[in-house]
Amino acid sequence: MAFLETRGVTKIYGHGEQATVALADFSYAIDENAAAIVAVAGESGSGKSTLARLLLGFTNPTRGEVLYRGKDLRLVSGQERKDFRREVQAVFQDPFGVYNPFYRVDHLLTMPIKNFGLATSRSDTRNQIETALATVGLNPGEILGRYPHQLSGGQRQRITIARALLLRPRLIIADEPVSMVDASLRATILESLLKLRQEFGIAFLYITHDLTTAYQISEQLIILYQGAVAEAGPARDVIRGPRHPYTQLLVGSIPSPDPDQRWGNEVAGAAVEGAEATVRQGCRFAPRCPHVMPICRETAPPLFQVGETAVACYLMRDAPEVPGGDLTAVLRGTIQGAGHAPRVIAEPPATLPLSAPAPAATSSGARRRR
Ligand SMILES: Nc1ncnc2c1ncn2[C@@H]1O[C@H](COP(=O)(O)OP(=O)(O)OP(=O)(O)O)[C@@H](O)[C@H]1O
Ligand code: SF4
Ligand SMILES: [Mg+2]
Repeated sequence: MAFLETRGVTKIYGHGEQATVALADFSYAIDENAAAIVAVAGESGSGKSTLARLLLGFTNPTRGEVLYRGKDLRLVSGQERKDFRREVQAVFQDPFGVYNPFYRVDHLLTMPIKNFGLATSRSDTRNQIETALATVGLNPGEILGRYPHQLSGGQRQRITIARALLLRPRLIIADEPVSMVDASLRATILESLLKLRQEFGIAFLYITHDLTTAYQISEQLIILYQGAVAEAGPARDVIRGPRHPYTQLLVGSIPSPDPDQRWGNEVAGAAVEGAEATVRQGCRFAPRCPHVMPICRETAPPLFQVGETAVACYLMRDAPEVPGGDLTAVLRGTIQGAGHAPRVIAEPPATLPLSAPAPAATSSGARRRR
């Protein structure tokens, strides 16, 4: 039984002409034992945070279901709910938002231990906190006793990760965890995530705008475009040999030497005419696609399985369809194939900027209405 699973999950915000399909028919099961890092990438408005919120139970699907240990998350209550809240942790983009300015950091770290009854004594609590801080590369002596405004953005972000770690989660859903910190700290924080996965077997869903960091730390990569999966598979293969025209546009439009460029913005800038067009039928990418065919405008392409990747494009229509559009089998094969080999911060391919791109500054909000 899968640990956390989405089955045909669709999330629509609004109604009628104003409706936005934030996520469409997304099926994927996260295996708690695989301890994989799966990256979800896409432009602003592609549905990444919606997926995170659905998996965390912060919002309910319009169609389909999110299952926690086989049970619809909407029906999970009591002790099971508490287990879910401990096992699935979230790390968000802006750690400052979760801090109460009137409490010292100690309070933020002590509360989860108390709430979940994870310590036997005050000294046990203290030990656990110190260990968690040290794991993410922070010196407890420097950090404890301080107020949030006395910490840097990178320190706050790492404290958020340490806080998640205290609960010994099975899965951490990290939504743009490094986009608010500068490039020098980004590598340190990403190294912390890798360490957690290696030492504690924690699985990660790493949500990002940034293909470079996705490439560096994840085994699998899911590319979303306007709420739908465009391509998914081994991160290396997707980035080095993209098959979907959208992924090709993303990878091809990354400026090589300029570390201040974000690929999300680059793509918006490089978009062909009609990029923001509303697609009510057929392939969402058709208005931007250089290979568009008549069939593309009629029915949305299913996912085709090409090697170890799934590609939602009619250019791949000679390949078999992914049964039920479920990414699980495609990505699980990848995980097993990888043999759980610990990744280190990998050398990015030549087409990617060598430094991580700058933080998100804008939200172009590519959205699909129907
Ligand atoms: N509460 C909401 N009400 C209405 N529309 C929403 C709501 N939340 C998200 N949306 C819309 O759903 C789409 C997907 O949004 P989402 O936040 O998931 O995108 P994202 O990929 O996380 O973008 P970003 O990279 O900017 O964070 C967008 O078009 C967004 O405007
Ligand atoms: S299905 Fe058609 S329009 Fe969509 S990406 Fe493929 S070729 Fe382009
Ligand atoms: Mg988001």
